[in-house]
Amino acid sequence: MYFRKPSPTPPLHSLPSPTPSFSKSKHIINNKFRYTLFLSLFLASWLLLLLHHHFHFTPVPKHTTTCHGSGPLFYIYALPSRFNLGLLQRCENLNIYTNMCPHVANNGLGQPLSTPSWYATHQFIGEMIVHARLQNHPCRTWDPHAARLFYVPFYGGLHASSVFREANLTLRDALAVDLVAFLQSQPWWKRHHGKDHFVALGRTAWDFMRREEGPDFGANIFLNLPTVRNMSVLTVERHPWQGHNQFAIPYPSYFHPKSLPQMLTLQDTIRQRARPHLFSFVGGTRPNLAKAKVRDHIVSQCGASERCVLVPCTSGDARCHNPMAVLEVMSKSTFCLQAPGDSFTRRSTFDSVLAGCIPVFFSEHTAYTQYTWYFPTKRDTYSVFIDEREVNEGKKKIEDVLLGIEEEEVAKMREVVIGLIPKLTYAHPNASGGVGFEDAVDVALQRLSRLVIMDQTKSVGSADI
Ligand SMILES: *[C@@H]1O[C@H](CO)[C@@H](O)[C@H](O)[C@H]1NC(C)=O
Ligand SMILES: *[C@@H]1O[C@H](CO)[C@@H](O)[C@H](O)[C@H]1NC(C)=O
Ligand SMILES: *[C@@H]1O[C@H](CO)[C@@H](O)[C@H](O)[C@H]1NC(C)=O
Repeated sequence: MYFRKPSPTPPLHSLPSPTPSFSKSKHIINNKFRYTLFLSLFLASWLLLLLHHHFHFTPVPKHTTTCHGSGPLFYIYALPSRFNLGLLQRCENLNIYTNMCPHVANNGLGQPLSTPSWYATHQFIGEMIVHARLQNHPCRTWDPHAARLFYVPFYGGLHASSVFREANLTLRDALAVDLVAFLQSQPWWKRHHGKDHFVALGRTAWDFMRREEGPDFGANIFLNLPTVRNMSVLTVERHPWQGHNQFAIPYPSYFHPKSLPQMLTLQDTIRQRARPHLFSFVGGTRPNLAKAKVRDHIVSQCGASERCVLVPCTSGDARCHNPMAVLEVMSKSTFCLQAPGDSFTRRSTFDSVLAGCIPVFFSEHTAYTQYTWYFPTKRDTYSVFIDEREVNEGKKKIEDVLLGIEEEEVAKMREVVIGLIPKLTYAHPNASGGVGFEDAVDVALQRLSRLVIMDQTKSVGSADI
């Protein structure tokens, strides 16, 4: 149906050139439109500000103009280095499975690939990338009085993975307890009980929510501490039921552009890719994991279909560790299967979006209950959902479901997916000034700011009564 003839399109890594390919007239219209939009937004927010002032008397930070309208002013805590950069000194021991030294290089982007702005970025390194991006962000202020948000640059994920095997729980939790003591002694914590503070974690919430009962997977208690429950926590996977103060941010993928033209070129390249394969799966089975049972069916169905490309990671396919090879497969596929594994979410979801491949989810918690700041509310505009139970019980065959989607519908969905790329990207931290598009960090800053305003309005409101 939607098999376009495979035409020789250039591979991903050969194209990205710094020339944007959109037409000039479109650009002018675009600018005019943007100008009008900007003006109306400006007027609207001015009016809101006035109203806000009038009725609530909540402090509104000054100097917002220095921030290019891209977000709220925030302050970065100067934490003792044992909470962040100091941890990197033993980078070979940060993870019990891998030497993290190559991955913590370049502010966490990892080793550069052959194309500029592309890096072999580790999936659990988001906290370093967020930190670096915020350090050079135009909305950063050095004056805590002017800040609406307070960022606590704790490398909690890197620390957690370094002590997974620490049997003494007091020792395993020590740095988290230490951080909380530091924060509570700060004057800025006291102003709003930490409600305007946030932390970013590159690992899933499960790694910081150890339970008294149940087996010990190596987690610590960071996110269970009452102090931390007052903050907002950005994490690549939130606890779907208990994570009320947890907000999911994208896993970092491999593309970290410095400018809008680089982004537009990438989107254009992706749009033009021929996609000879209906679907693909990059991953392995999890033989001893009942919750990942759907992977068995995915691997066997994909393996049996001529329309599917299987990159079997359990049996050590070399492509699994080669970012460009993974993206190459995905960018030749219309749909990319995203099955839950050790946890609900996967970095692969973000790789597939970057490749313009429509994600197929088998659990609600792989994206829908997670990245609500980033993905459209209407799930079927950009993804396909096949309930894992229906696959496990043999009620639905993946290929049949995908073949049943109209070609026109597929094209629309792909366009939505490609449009999501900027927001899901972590721009290069050294991009000077604004990067020219809203990236994952910009989105998070705006959402956090809204939460803080809502919370403060609420408390002013209740104080009035
Ligand atoms: C950003 O610039 C600083 C200072 O020049 C440099 O040390 C750092 O490695 C750069 N980061 C990246 C990711 O290139
Ligand atoms: C765990 O470590 C702490 C701090 O070093 C120590 O006081 C405690 O005795 C240790 N507990 C056990 C069970 O070894
Ligand atoms: C958390 O916030 C509540 C108010 O919502 C406050 O009473 C409490 O003291 C705060 N906890 C800490 C540790 O600051």
